[in-house]
Amino acid sequence: MSLELNSVKKFKDSGYLIIPKILSKELLDFIGIYAYNRARIEGVQSIDNQVPNTPSFGYDYVMENLSDFLLPRIESIIGMKLLPTYTYFRVYKAGDILEKHIDRPACEISITLSLRKGGNIWPIYFNNTDYKTREGDNDEFIAPLQDPKIVDATSVEEVLEKMHKEHIGDTTSVLLEEGDAAIYRGCEVVHWREAYNEGTKLAQVFLHYVDANGQFTEWKNDKVHDKYFAQDK
Ligand SMILES: [Fe+2]
Repeated sequence: MSLELNSVKKFKDSGYLIIPKILSKELLDFIGIYAYNRARIEGVQSIDNQVPNTPSFGYDYVMENLSDFLLPRIESIIGMKLLPTYTYFRVYKAGDILEKHIDRPACEISITLSLRKGGNIWPIYFNNTDYKTREGDNDEFIAPLQDPKIVDATSVEEVLEKMHKEHIGDTTSVLLEEGDAAIYRGCEVVHWREAYNEGTKLAQVFLHYVDANGQFTEWKNDKVHDKYFAQDK
């Protein structure tokens, strides 16, 4: 079985996949230093309820270009045609926590890519039990909030609580070196990080896409008219 077929199957089976060394060392240094610099110069600019008081930037032109640059490889690795939605990056600091969550439809297919860090690796956790226990083919995706077994939940927090009550114990801790990425089904695979004690600084970028043949194509370009993307030129 070729590497590509193997990765396609792995992603289909698990709902997430680790991609080691997705960037060359030169490109990694270039983008990682850029992320550090933008965070250092601009600091905390926007309200980020997930990780308060940490520099975070959406729709950054460099990251949007990175998303475009990696798109063909990502499509090949997971065997899906994708549409880009948006990008976001943070430069985390010691003590930060990323609570357990699933993401909005624009994050149907998401990548988290470690760019640059000070100290040791900060683990990210994935729990794919809801994805794996879902019946039928991936094309029959039912968003968790519409899943009959948790349909009475009124908030994402309640959904997560109910999901975990039903599916405790299928969690994977993932260690991403600089340049490593994890690709995951953001609306279905629960993900989080515990308090950041392993290091002092971590630049991490998120590249978000939707399945071009799926039910969230309306989220292309995050529904923003005239949004910058290199492939539009
Ligand atoms: Fe997320």
